Amino acid sequence: MLSDPIRKPPPYRIKVVEPIPFLSPEQRRAALAEAGYNPFNLRADQVTIDFLSDSGTGATSTDQEAAAARGDESYAGARSWFRFRDAAALLTGYPHLLPTHQGRAAERVLFTSLLKPGQLCLSNTHFDTTGANVTLAGAEARDLPCAEARDLDSDEPFKGNIDLDALESTLAGPEGSRVGLVLMTITNNGFGGQPVSMANLEAVREITQRHGVPFFLDAARFAENAWLVKQREPGYSHWTPRKIATRAFELADGCLISLKKDGLTAIGGLIGLRDENLWQQCEALLIATEGFSTYGGLAGHDLERLAVGLREVTEPSYLEGRATQTARFARMINDAGVDIIQPAGIHALYLNAGRLLPHLTPAEFPGHSLGCQLFLDGGIRCAELGSLYLGTLDEENRLTGPAPFELVRLAIPRRVYTEEHFAYVAGVLGDIAKDPERIRGYRIASAPPLLRHFKVRLEPIQA
Ligand SMILES: Cc1ncc(COP(=O)(O)O)c(C=O)c1O
Repeated sequence: MLSDPIRKPPPYRIKVVEPIPFLSPEQRRAALAEAGYNPFNLRADQVTIDFLSDSGTGATSTDQEAAAARGDESYAGARSWFRFRDAAALLTGYPHLLPTHQGRAAERVLFTSLLKPGQLCLSNTHFDTTGANVTLAGAEARDLPCAEARDLDSDEPFKGNIDLDALESTLAGPEGSRVGLVLMTITNNGFGGQPVSMANLEAVREITQRHGVPFFLDAARFAENAWLVKQREPGYSHWTPRKIATRAFELADGCLISLKKDGLTAIGGLIGLRDENLWQQCEALLIATEGFSTYGGLAGHDLERLAVGLREVTEPSYLEGRATQTARFARMINDAGVDIIQPAGIHALYLNAGRLLPHLTPAEFPGHSLGCQLFLDGGIRCAELGSLYLGTLDEENRLTGPAPFELVRLAIPRRVYTEEHFAYVAGVLGDIAKDPERIRGYRIASAPPLLRHFKVRLEPIQA
């Protein structure tokens, strides 16, 4: 039984617990209305199961907490920095490393130093803050996801890949001279949490080298990508996840990492670089805006947790346990009658709300409606990834260009929830799937121009 990964229990037991609240249906209705029907505005003590993000929401290990006690809070040259730097250098191989308080700070520092106004940044898919920071640097973020990503139901193993033909033709075409960066997001959070193959990364390296364009990884989930490569890509089953991750870093000129994911910590980010001049530019900006270059906005105890987290996260038993948990959850959701993007990745499951709620038009935001219903029925918080997040609006905030898909992301915190929590969520979803027509749509009441989904306010459309 223990050789069947789908039946194996998680490779840890629980030592410290945090209570979770259970509100009444009336309390949940009032809470959601007060939040402007935007789950980002809910208080955490109103949420029973929080699937809003896997970022900074994981549980730390006993080894990480023991290491945190050694945190050296010296302003410069802290021992904790050297321990973190050595762990990150061993993993990534980059000669120049800069710590930041989280991923988007690394984005701002790198893009401000590397991109010039009017340039293009090409990616398999930019994460939302990544795209926003490219825009704030005066450049344009353009996504080139592979064609296989458009079929949500297929079993294609690497739907996170970039479209290599589109990359080549953009670089060889009239806009080629505008391209300032190619950024590969592993795994592809904006598009189903799907992995990127090593073959795709090798090809991106060859193309970018030929065209003389820098190639970086947005490597927030470098270990989960490595695990999926090990499982799915011919030739890698005998590699360790660490060796695969290190090879991915080796292919690129540098990286950005939000360490709140595969750093297994609540906070942290990293810029890894080979280019000495770029490092010096980034370091100057880092010191002015984040903190001295041996802490970059992090406390010594954070750096210590990270030094351990970067080792733990590539442990095969940890990755197998996490992937198995997600796979079991995916099966429960499918059995409940709800479709997800196939094949399931690791950090999140993406519900196909457009298919579940065909009575709602994109302008009524079916993904958002499903997300709100999960909260109303079960206190479950999650994020829409559909027309509310990606669609284009007119000046009255009416939808003019829908997103290609209406999805809801259930992001799974690391080492936090048990099988009973997942069964509970699948049960709530199953009840919705039995009577989807009762779910109403929403309209936008007010929306900010940038990163709309975080602060948008909505109202239910009355029947
Ligand atoms: C792929 C990717 N890049 C960048 C970020 C931004 O990182 P942070 O939230 O640490 O600023 C995230 C966060 O979710 C992400 O998923």
